[in-house]
Amino acid sequence: MKTKFLYRYLSMILVTGGAGYIGSHTILVLLEAGYDVVVFDNLSNGSTEAIKRVERLANRKVHFEHGDIRDRKGLDEVLATYPVTAAIHFAGLKAVGESMKKPLEYFDNNVSGSIQLLKALRQAGVFNIVFSSSATVYGDPGTPVFNEEMPTGTPSNTYGYTKLVVEELLKKTQAADPRWRVALLRYFNPVGAHQSGTIGEDPAGIPNNLLPFIAQVAVGKRQQLSIFGDDYPTPDGTCLRDYIHVMDLAEGHVSALQALKRFDKGGVGIWNLGGGQGHSVLEMVKAFEKASGQAVPYQVAPRREGDLAQFWADPGKAKRELGWEVERTLHDMMADTWRWQSKNPNGYQK
Ligand code: NAD
Ligand code: UFG
Repeated sequence: MKTKFLYRYLSMILVTGGAGYIGSHTILVLLEAGYDVVVFDNLSNGSTEAIKRVERLANRKVHFEHGDIRDRKGLDEVLATYPVTAAIHFAGLKAVGESMKKPLEYFDNNVSGSIQLLKALRQAGVFNIVFSSSATVYGDPGTPVFNEEMPTGTPSNTYGYTKLVVEELLKKTQAADPRWRVALLRYFNPVGAHQSGTIGEDPAGIPNNLLPFIAQVAVGKRQQLSIFGDDYPTPDGTCLRDYIHVMDLAEGHVSALQALKRFDKGGVGIWNLGGGQGHSVLEMVKAFEKASGQAVPYQVAPRREGDLAQFWADPGKAKRELGWEVERTLHDMMADTWRWQSKNPNGYQK
């Protein structure tokens, strides 16, 4: 175990959305760091099988409560049952394209759900919260390196907009009541899987994101990848993103929880969780082929609406204030994705 996780400041953590991709990896890291965990998830995009596998990996129990964050009564019951000291809030809908077609569902789940959660936490006297935000809140600032001092912008899609609204909701809630300690974690592009290959990303239907799509082509579930545009002003013409291994991301949450404890008078901490380096779509394809030994056929397709040409994190603030930085390489991201995908071609459904 790493030294940075030796100190346990907070004990029972409520993890909303803990049965999903990032949540399941985070609960594993929490358990390994000695925290107790209660997951609250409506299973709209999560799996109890993921939780069972986390329990086996950690050799510890996860408390699971099936429920929806929009249901205040359900939240109150959970908070009355478990001695929760902090919440990590992953629950929400995340498909960019779908969010443009279903704005009411996205605002309802992501914004109304967060309001219910904050009210329930306040009533239970729990004032520590870590929120899953996204680099999308920067909008298009006109520079590829995003740092936390930059003003937020206008996200290009409804999903991103809900993240910005919840950030504002949390900031204003904390400003009105200084008992709150809030971490806003702006993720860049989470990819990869636990190194055991037993838990990973299990997208429903056709994957929206690059790496799950590549992995499904490699395993033979899809014929070829479409690369959305090769005429961007980047070195090889394809878009650059800051891909971050999901286990590095998960560890960032534990570091953020520990940092909250140091906020003696409450406050809001905003941290980018990224590696600080951009990789192009073509680089990703080649790196995956190398790590997996599989061919990934592709065709070049038109640009996808709303994509920025390139951006990556300035990870300096997280390093200075959380003592956290990424440790895993691009090869690790690819090898771990392939291990998960090849061992579980149908995800959690055998
Ligand atoms: P995911 O869909 O795998 O996990 C979300 C979990 O929340 C699922 O288990 C789902 O069943 C649950 N859930 C959804 N709505 C709920 C509700 N109303 N009540 C209770 N549970 C609910 O997604 P993920 O990739 O693990 O993302 C986790 C969080 O991180 C999300 O808030 C997402 O917006 C954010 N995020 C993800 C990415 C990414 O690329 N994966 C990037 C930036 C931010
Ligand atoms: N891409 C392809 N083909 C695909 C899928 C993606 O070429 O089949 C390209 C995209 O055009 C983009 C890159 O691969 O250039 C990465 O795309 P992803 O969809 O994997 O990731 P995004 O950067 O578009 O989206 C991510 C998160 C969102 C978040 C957004 C913030 O998934 O949650 O970053 O910008 F809102």
